[in-house]
Amino acid sequence: MSEELVSAAIAAMEKAHAPYSNFPVGAALQAESGAIYAGCNVENSAYPEGWCAETSAIAAMVMAGEKRIREVAVAGKGEALVTPCGGCRQRLREFADETLVIHICGPEGLRKSVTLGDLLPLSFGPEHLA
Ligand code: THU
Repeated sequence: MSEELVSAAIAAMEKAHAPYSNFPVGAALQAESGAIYAGCNVENSAYPEGWCAETSAIAAMVMAGEKRIREVAVAGKGEALVTPCGGCRQRLREFADETLVIHICGPEGLRKSVTLGDLLPLSFGPEHLA
């Protein structure tokens, strides 16, 4: 597990635009090249138009021309583990398989590591359409 990835997720959390939920989240992806792409949740006064930290990070990765995620860190506050929401599990699946390791972090650092397969078993992915 890369400390740099965890730090990037925690730093991204501090940039969140979350004035409605007051629940900032940060995500950092290490892509195939080794580069790290981070993102935060961006909420909106029209509530359903907001989006998750993982989604922002995926957009940054794709804009940089990368299509494969090696490892992920997600950071959130509170006592409960901040795991990717259902929609973000599927968005991650687009660029990784069930072996992808996701590090769940709090402001203090790593709390638990799980795989995408743990979070999204029997998933549907791009191979189904090949
Ligand atoms: N949120 C994320 O950014 N990622 C997740 O995986 C869980 C939820 C955000 C969405 C919303 O801005 C706030 O957390 C409360 O749901």
